[in-house]
Amino acid sequence: MSKDDLIGLSLWEAYSQKVHDRMNNPAHRGSFTDKDAKAQNCKLVVADFGDASCGDSIQLFWLVDPRTDLIKDARFLSFGCGTAIASADIMAELTIGRTVDAAAQITNLDVEKALRDDPDTPAFPGQKMHCSVMAYDVIKRAVAKHKNIDINELEDQEMVCECARVTRGMIVDVIRKNDLKTVEEITRYTKAGGYCKSCIRPGGHEQRKYFLEDILRDTRQKMAEEKGETQTIAFAELPKAQQFKKVEEVLAAYLAPVLAKDRGGVELADIVGKEVQIVYQGACHGCASAETGTLKLIESTLREKLDPEIQVTIYAK
Ligand code: FES
Repeated sequence: MSKDDLIGLSLWEAYSQKVHDRMNNPAHRGSFTDKDAKAQNCKLVVADFGDASCGDSIQLFWLVDPRTDLIKDARFLSFGCGTAIASADIMAELTIGRTVDAAAQITNLDVEKALRDDPDTPAFPGQKMHCSVMAYDVIKRAVAKHKNIDINELEDQEMVCECARVTRGMIVDVIRKNDLKTVEEITRYTKAGGYCKSCIRPGGHEQRKYFLEDILRDTRQKMAEEKGETQTIAFAELPKAQQFKKVEEVLAAYLAPVLAKDRGGVELADIVGKEVQIVYQGACHGCASAETGTLKLIESTLREKLDPEIQVTIYAK
């Protein structure tokens, strides 16, 4: 974000008028007590999401008619930024007049879209999408409270990102509902992976069961299968271990036999982005074409089989 974005008008212009209005004058901010619920013959449901001490949290209050399951009124308290307040305000409004089951169908996209001035212009910048996700998540917590069920029954609660307190279920849900394609997008929508980064891929300072890269790949694969598509995950999006496996497979199947004819060989040393670093073996060492023809052959084969942007270099220790 440029300095101009922070101090000039450009950042403010990225927010809809509805966001401005709701952050300055939220219509549903407040809370309900048991007394309020009793006065309306309703059940009080209170749900929380986030941690107020960390600056991002929403508390949702519903008055639910026990005979019809209709949400008669809703209020919220939020300790987040202006976008979180606007998102929580519109989220509370969207739930009023719906049954609890119908409210459970509201997504973060519904929240964001309801804040748009123009149907084709996002209500706020992409880096603020996590505010709409918070609003959406607190609804699920309220549904679980109302139904007196463990939220695990609504989503897979295994914690993936300890820093942002984001569960596997929430990540899968956000990928599916928003058609996310990169880890950066997951971070933008949920904040997962935005702090110590050890939940992004193996190799961080903590042992983990799930990583964002794996969840993204598996979820995208499932989505593609459901649509009857054959998913081909881009080489650059694969975890490094799988990139290694694929390159080694191509080297073994297509290049090793050719080089072996001249008593040479090639091994994979490292992969950095789309740069594949190799080490020559046997007669390939010092061969006149090691840095020209042979290198080009290896590069063109890897490009054809894996990714047209791969570059091959000779590993320098
Ligand atoms: S555990 Fe996800 S950013 Fe730290």
